[in-house]
Amino acid sequence: MGEWGGDIRSGLIMVYMSHIRFRIEGWLSHSRLWTYGVAIAFLCGILIFLGFPVFPQPPVTVRVLIQAIDATHWQPLVTQFNQTHSDIQLEVVKGPNNTNLVEDLYTSAFLLGDSPYDLVYMDIVWVQKFAAARWLTDLSDRVTPEQLNVYLKGDIEGGRYQGKLYRIPFQTDGGMLYYRQDLLAQIGATPPETFAQLMALSKILQEQNLVAWGYVWQGKQYEGLSAMFTEILAGHGGFWIDPDTQAVGLDQPQAIAAVEFLRDTLAEGISPPGVTTYSEEETRRLFQNGKAAFLRNWPYVYSLASDSELVGKFAIKPMMHTPGNKGGACLGGWGLGISKSSPHPDAAWQVIEYFNQPEVQRQYFQQTGYVPARRSLFYDSQLITQSNHLPRLLPVLDSSVLRPPIPQYAQASDILQRYLSAALTGRETPQRAMELAAKETRALLLRGG
Ligand code: GLC
Repeated sequence: MGEWGGDIRSGLIMVYMSHIRFRIEGWLSHSRLWTYGVAIAFLCGILIFLGFPVFPQPPVTVRVLIQAIDATHWQPLVTQFNQTHSDIQLEVVKGPNNTNLVEDLYTSAFLLGDSPYDLVYMDIVWVQKFAAARWLTDLSDRVTPEQLNVYLKGDIEGGRYQGKLYRIPFQTDGGMLYYRQDLLAQIGATPPETFAQLMALSKILQEQNLVAWGYVWQGKQYEGLSAMFTEILAGHGGFWIDPDTQAVGLDQPQAIAAVEFLRDTLAEGISPPGVTTYSEEETRRLFQNGKAAFLRNWPYVYSLASDSELVGKFAIKPMMHTPGNKGGACLGGWGLGISKSSPHPDAAWQVIEYFNQPEVQRQYFQQTGYVPARRSLFYDSQLITQSNHLPRLLPVLDSSVLRPPIPQYAQASDILQRYLSAALTGRETPQRAMELAAKETRALLLRGG
C-alpha cells in the first residue's frame, strides 16, 4: 500500500481542495452576481424616480377623428408632432367632410362605450351635448385663466358647460360678406350695409350683365344652413333660442322676415335656384369663378380667392342688417377636447398643447387660410405681410353671435334646418314653416332633450 497509499491520500486531498476552491469561487461569483443585481436594481430605481425611460416603451397612440379635408391640412403638423414626440404617435382617422356626419360618428362611438378616439376635434356647437352626456374630460385644471385670455372670448365661452371647460380652440371662424369691389366701382357704388341695398345692387349688376348672379349663400339642409341663418336672423334683430330663458324666437316677425329675405333672393333671381343645395365650397367656387357679386362665407375663402384671378378684385365686410340693427357674424370654429374614456389623457393633452403653440397656428394659417384661435396672431407682422385682412377680421369675430349653447343643440338645429329647407324650396310659407319650427323647438326644450 506504502507508495500507493500516499498517492491515494494526496490525490484525495487534492480532490478535496479543488472542491473547496470550486465552492468558494461559486459562492464568490454568486455573491458578486447578487451585488451587481442589487446595484443595477438600485440604479434603475433612481432612473425611474428621475423620470428616465429605463426600458424602451412602444409609443402611446393618440387617435382623433377629423373631416377628410382637414386631415389633409393637418398632415404636415401631424408629421412634425410625431417626429418630435418619440413617446406619442398621433393618428388621424379621416371622417366625411360634412360636419353633421362627423358629429354622428363621434356620437355613435361614445354611445357604443369605449370610444376609439382619445381626442375629440369639435365644432363649437358640439361641446354642450358631448359635455352634458359626460363624454368629455374636464380641462379646467389644466389651464390658468391667464392662459385662456389669449383666445377670443366667444371661443372660450363656447367651450364651457356648467362652468367647466371642455374644449381648447384651435381654429376660429366667423361668417362675413365677400363682395366684388371692382364691379361696385364700375357702377359707382359702395358695398351694401342693409339687405335692401344688397338686393338693389345685385339687380343693377345683373341687369348690366356685369355678373350672372347677385348673392350666393349656403341653402343646403345641413349645419351650414343654421349657421348662415343665425346671421340673417341677427341682422333682422331676431333670435333663435335664448339659452338663459329657453325662449324661442323663430315665430316672431323678425325671424319670418329673415326667411322672407332669403326666399326673395331666389324669387327675384338674385341667387341661383341651386343655392338650396349648396354648402360652403359650391358657393366659394361660384364666387371665385366670377359668377357672383356677393358671397356669405367663412374666412378660409379669403386666402383661396386671393390665390385666384379674383386677387385684388374683392373685399370683405360684416354681414348686412336692417336699418337700426347690427350685422352679426355667426361664430364657428374648431377645437380639441379629450374623450372621457381615453386611457392616455396626458398624452392627448400634449397634443393639445402642441396645436396651441403660436408657431403651429401661424404655420396652419399660412398653409390653409384657416384663422388661428390665438388673438395675438391677428397682429402678427409676419402674417399681416401676407394677409393684410387679418386685423380687420378680429372686430368682426369679436362681435359674433353664438348658435344657442344648449345640450339639445343638434336636435334644435335639425328642426330649424328641416323647416327652413321647406320654406326655401317652396314646400311651406315662411310664416307656417317658422311657426312649426318654433312649436317643435319648444316641445324639445320642454322634454329637456
Ligand atoms: C365651419 C364652422 C363650423 C360650422 C360649419 C358649418 O366649419 O367652423 O362652426 O358649424 O362650418 O358648415
